Amino acid sequence: MTKVLIDCDPGIDDAMALALAAGAPGIELVAITTVGGNVDLSLTTANALALREFLDLGDIPVTPGSAGALLHRTVRAGDIHGDTGLGGAVLPAPLLAVSEGHAVDRIIDTLRAAPGEITLVAIGPLTNIALAVRREPRIVEWARDLVIMGGSFTRGNHNPAAEFNMLADPEAAAIVFEAGWTVKMLGLDVTLTAVVTSAVLDRMRPLGRLAELLVPAAQFYGAVTDLAGPAIHDACAVAYVMDPSLVTMVPAVVNVEVIGEYTRGMTVVDFRLRERRANALVATGLDAGRFWDVVLGAYVRLAERLG
Ligand code: RIB
Ligand code: CA
Repeated sequence: MTKVLIDCDPGIDDAMALALAAGAPGIELVAITTVGGNVDLSLTTANALALREFLDLGDIPVTPGSAGALLHRTVRAGDIHGDTGLGGAVLPAPLLAVSEGHAVDRIIDTLRAAPGEITLVAIGPLTNIALAVRREPRIVEWARDLVIMGGSFTRGNHNPAAEFNMLADPEAAAIVFEAGWTVKMLGLDVTLTAVVTSAVLDRMRPLGRLAELLVPAAQFYGAVTDLAGPAIHDACAVAYVMDPSLVTMVPAVVNVEVIGEYTRGMTVVDFRLRERRANALVATGLDAGRFWDVVLGAYVRLAERLG
């Protein structure tokens, strides 16, 4: 069983990633921390609280963190995730309250208590992770792994150069890549192939209560057709933890542009490894067919629990 802490900004694909973690046979989700990103922190946290109960995650802590970026203006994606952040999905109001404290301390305390055991999965802007590294640099050794959805070596999405999570806080991303661990980076290069086509959506429809989240959320996230559909970026990070053989990873030196007028937030990925030791393993391929078998298998398992 792999113990996982997910730092997220739910967010439609964050919700699908949390559902995947909830249904994954080999994952124990031990904590959720939230960050401002797709929508404001108040909404990402409210969504995480609702998802904790809807996904039958028990009373694992949900701890809010940073509302915005370390340095510059806040970037949001409400146009993509909708006013609530969960697109067309409406979940029952949560009964349990948010956990005490700040996400940064939750991350540090969770890793300190179980050195080498916890995989950190970051699927939103990296502000909480960067602050945790600055507050307690030893988390770099304590974390079993750091897996992020973010960046790319080919293109952006929020603009031609930058992927949203990196653009939302480039300084934080730069701190995380320079911290000394080997970041497992699943960028747009692979996540854009994890699309919900109509065939995939048809496999979600019979999943009972879980379908009440997955189907409207996916349909809001993008036009679903026989050949194309919305990419559930964040679920790729959880799927990698479930089965690393789904993803081809290549060592690289990753730098984050924090200045460029047109390139701020771009992940500059150097596979040549001439001057420096790799600070990342960068995903260059995803077995999309097996990805959906793994994901839908976990969703079916969760649906049997939820009814
Ligand atoms: O670029 C995709 C990423 O940005 C995903 O994490 C999505 O939730 C948004 O935060
Ligand atoms: Ca996200």
